[in-house]
Amino acid sequence: MIDLRSDTVTQPTEGMRNAMSEAIVGDDVLGDDPTVIELQDKTAKLLGKEAALYVPSGTMSNIVATRTHTSPGDEIVTEAHSHIYRYEGGAFAALSGCSVALVDGKNGLMTSEQVSRSIRKAEGSLSHYPNGSLVCVENTAQGGGGSVYSQEVIDEICKVARENDCKLHMDGARLFNAIVASNTEPARMVRDFDSVSVCLSKGLGAPIGSVLVGSKKDLAQAHRWRKMFGGGMRQAGMMAAAGIYALENNIDRLREDHRRARKFAEALVEMPNFSVNLDTVQSNIVYIGVGKGRSKQMIEKLAKQDIDILDTDDSTIRAVFHLHIGDEDLEKIIEVFAQLR
Ligand SMILES: Cc1ncc(COP(=O)(O)O)c(C=O)c1O
Repeated sequence: MIDLRSDTVTQPTEGMRNAMSEAIVGDDVLGDDPTVIELQDKTAKLLGKEAALYVPSGTMSNIVATRTHTSPGDEIVTEAHSHIYRYEGGAFAALSGCSVALVDGKNGLMTSEQVSRSIRKAEGSLSHYPNGSLVCVENTAQGGGGSVYSQEVIDEICKVARENDCKLHMDGARLFNAIVASNTEPARMVRDFDSVSVCLSKGLGAPIGSVLVGSKKDLAQAHRWRKMFGGGMRQAGMMAAAGIYALENNIDRLREDHRRARKFAEALVEMPNFSVNLDTVQSNIVYIGVGKGRSKQMIEKLAKQDIDILDTDDSTIRAVFHLHIGDEDLEKIIEVFAQLR
């Protein structure tokens, strides 16, 4: 099968498996797993932050960050298609006690004006409003088609958040896709954020894990929340070794995934049965319009041709490029789509 369902389906490669089997491990709950410490230090340094925390998933990373930056009764500003709002089981409400102010961005991207308009403060409202205290930015914006923020817009959003006394969290599940797509220096991109969550188990190819980075003070608090949410892991160095391998070997190659996604999208535009918004194809994701009510049928037809793909609604399917999709696979994918009716 050519598996285009997500970049989360990647399997550890031989080099990564070797790094995992050779990892020196300790007990990370007791704070002495040297490989986890190395991964945390490496990620913090790369992103120009003081401290880092290894967590089992991107969801937990976002939840721990949200809980760290807010108090019950606060409000989070985020884009309407963001993972934090859509796909984390309402954890912002259940585990942080927050409401959410949704921004209807273009292709999943917010503007600073929209963010500014969405921040509500309890103070001065006769206690009518919740307290807008956290702005979350997702880069790349998965729900927007893998679109990428310009540094200018990021800086403007950060400025507005600061002026309104809000903390800033970046959901960087695909941060390195955004970094290679925009040719930005990692620490510069996230300079003004209080915390950044990076997933190692998406395009970077590790089997498990995310890293949350930020200030020592915030990360000490995050460490407590990770404990309370049951995210402390013991001999986690075996997994952290995969993360170190991913950071050392798999960042630059993300360009390949972006090139193939773009080539696929450009081929689709020429095919009468499909529609693609080329503006959104800026990284490794391609959303494909297949016609009303036709998603399931398309998935079945593609499965018969050994292509595994997901639907996002009844008229849209989504292809995600990753390290197991090579040029030959791309040729086959284009050929199969060209013949689909
Ligand atoms: C943008 C974004 N944030 C967070 C996550 C959560 O990551 P995980 O699946 O590791 O919990 C995902 C997962 O697909 C994602 O796409």
